[in-house]
Amino acid sequence: MLVTGGAGYIGSHACKALALAGYTPVAYDNLVYGHREAVRWGPLEPGDIADRKRLDAVVAQYQPEAVLHFAAYAYVGESVQDPAKYYRNNVAGTLTLLEALVHHDIRRIVFSSTCATYGVPERTPIDEDHPQQPINPYGASKLMIERMLQDFDAAYGLRSVSLRYFNAAGADPDGEIGEDHDPETHLIPLALQAALGQREALQVFGSDYPTPDGSCIRDYIHVTDLAQAHVLALDYLTRGGATTALNLGTGHGHSVLEVIAAADAVTGRAVPTVLAPRRPGDPPVLTAVADRARQVLGWQPRYTDLATILRHAWNWHRDQPHRPDPGFP
Ligand SMILES: NC(=O)c1ccc[n+]([C@@H]2O[C@H](COP(=O)([O-])OP(=O)(O)OC[C@H]3O[C@@H](n4cnc5c(N)ncnc54)[C@H](O)[C@@H]3O)[C@@H](O)[C@H]2O)c1
Repeated sequence: MLVTGGAGYIGSHACKALALAGYTPVAYDNLVYGHREAVRWGPLEPGDIADRKRLDAVVAQYQPEAVLHFAAYAYVGESVQDPAKYYRNNVAGTLTLLEALVHHDIRRIVFSSTCATYGVPERTPIDEDHPQQPINPYGASKLMIERMLQDFDAAYGLRSVSLRYFNAAGADPDGEIGEDHDPETHLIPLALQAALGQREALQVFGSDYPTPDGSCIRDYIHVTDLAQAHVLALDYLTRGGATTALNLGTGHGHSVLEVIAAADAVTGRAVPTVLAPRRPGDPPVLTAVADRARQVLGWQPRYTDLATILRHAWNWHRDQPHRPDPGFP
């Protein structure tokens, strides 16, 4: 199984899930954001999805049945500042990958899409039929890939499952791998690093939203549950399943302040926080209707409890050596 972005956060957890399901995951990653030490359940083949020669060589060597495609840039704010970087890496890079797959007669792919393809929701919770109107280049790049995948199925018979993740969170329950973005922008690692004294106070962006406590509400889905959904999506495609797109979330939202309270409880420390203005483009509530993934894949998320997600993340973060976050140049 070829896993692009297999050295990254979600990709490395998917490699572990694949190995537990009896597959050999081949991580194909240019290591721009990935970590060599997160690749533990199969070989690491360094390479870029835009490098057709390298892709051809790796595919010829391993002859994978299918591909899990995680490789992308995923910083929303940066995508607004530098859209070219996102369209080049995510869209053009994926086009090169898809052409290589068709050339090598690989006809199954599971793609990491995102709730950012929906934009500002017209209604919540969000089902898969909600209009997709992304409000930033990152979300737009992912929507373009979903469209390319539909066209590649119609024309070349490349079947796909686009998995639209809500907020990936937590870490491997065994503590072997975890979330290690650099720079980090996600709430839970930021809160835990602030609790460890590795960062200044955590900024809470907006406390006047029309939500019960005034902070934004998001749907946090455990990374191991995401990983398992990929294995099930592969099984679905192997059974002959048709191209589809599925939300991956729990269907339950938690506010920023609830997450911070859960972080206080799990760490036994008070996460230092500071209130900051709203960020443009942050909708008050993003939660999923995730019934379709349950029906189509038989997916049953296991770690839906916020305290469990925080505990797994904390178990991992607590043991990491502190590396100063470089931020964006
Ligand atoms: N983390 C989330 O909450 C979330 C939510 C929705 C969607 N996603 C999507 O899930 C995927 C994985 O996210 P993540 O949080 O694990 O990010 P990540 O940055 O940890 O992993 C992405 C990996 O892709 C690699 N990569 C990037 N460009 C590449 C290229 N051109 N060639 C080869 N490798 C390349 C990076 O080195 C990195 O290891 C991304 O596609 C992201 O858009 C993530």
